[in-house]
Amino acid sequence: DMGGHDTYMHKEIHEQAEAVDRVLRGRIDDRFSTVHLGGLNLDARDARAVRRVKILGCGTSYHAGQIGAQMIEELARIPADAEPASEFRYRNAVVDPDTLYIAVSQSGETYDVLAAVQELKRKGARVLGIVNVVGSAIAREADGGMYVHAGPEVCVVSTKCFTNTCVAFALLALHLGRTRDLSVRDGKRIIEGLRKLPAQISEMLEQEEDIRKLAAQYAEARSMLFIGRVRGYPVAREASLKLKEVSYIHAEAYPASELKHGPLALIEPALPTVAIVPDDDLLEKNRAAMEEIKARSGQILAVAHQEQEKADHTIVVPKNEDELDPILMGIPLQLLAYHTALALGRDIDKPRNLAKSVTVE
Ligand code: M6R
Repeated sequence: DMGGHDTYMHKEIHEQAEAVDRVLRGRIDDRFSTVHLGGLNLDARDARAVRRVKILGCGTSYHAGQIGAQMIEELARIPADAEPASEFRYRNAVVDPDTLYIAVSQSGETYDVLAAVQELKRKGARVLGIVNVVGSAIAREADGGMYVHAGPEVCVVSTKCFTNTCVAFALLALHLGRTRDLSVRDGKRIIEGLRKLPAQISEMLEQEEDIRKLAAQYAEARSMLFIGRVRGYPVAREASLKLKEVSYIHAEAYPASELKHGPLALIEPALPTVAIVPDDDLLEKNRAAMEEIKARSGQILAVAHQEQEKADHTIVVPKNEDELDPILMGIPLQLLAYHTALALGRDIDKPRNLAKSVTVE
């Protein structure tokens, strides 16, 4: 049942305010400015003993993991990074008992992720699952974890589960942070930011008509470049994957800082750039990157917290706390991919060559 929408992708994009409300529900503890995550099976002593966090996933779940790794580093000050689960399992990785491993999966059935979890457990590691589908293989195999409560996601292209997974990571980062050195004040600040998300998502979705018009323009491009730095980079990567999957337009994501080390050679009027430009301490750096692109007659669509002079168009996203900004910045880019695909007449819910869950090697 598509509830009045023409595609599941459209329906699922529009379910995000509700979905985020669900992942937050019952978990916030205002008294201690933290969150309760009962299913982690990780007591305070265990949480304090974690020396590193390694996040494993594929595709969109991997990108959510990259955002999660940054949140964990920022809020809990634990070194963290994300890696594609398939790469991890084939490179005979060093498995360290002081590392907390986190497997991320919408379906909970992705074979490469499951195999990585099994290998980790065989070597004695502690593995948490951040999973959407309740009772799925990865959820069962993990030592504990959290459900992201995005609700059923039917479209092959993941949208609401990505957003909810990022929010789940924010909760985990806050929890780990408050068990360690994150101040009450910062805990409160993040909680307030989390509570604002559902309304801000609804506000964002009201811009759909403007984004549809932009998409009609970009649908003519043969290729697109997505750039961002630090918090904006995983957003750029996810947006680039979304566009590729659903519209079949070639897209590539690059850290804005790497432009001058190569990709600047590609810039010309026919290659539009989408720039992720949060209003944080890197704003000036990002403006400089846009200037470089403009100087070479590249077109720019900025996703930012304020109108960008250097850009041809700006999609203005509501500002949240710096650490949580990536969550909202992904949403207009889902709409951009959706409307580009619609303009091109693509099979939106079932893009060619793809399956909803990849349960084979
Ligand atoms: O179910 P999972 O989250 O484990 O799936 C992982 C990827 O296959 C998945 O995210 C894929 O990249 C989607 N088609 C993204 O839209």
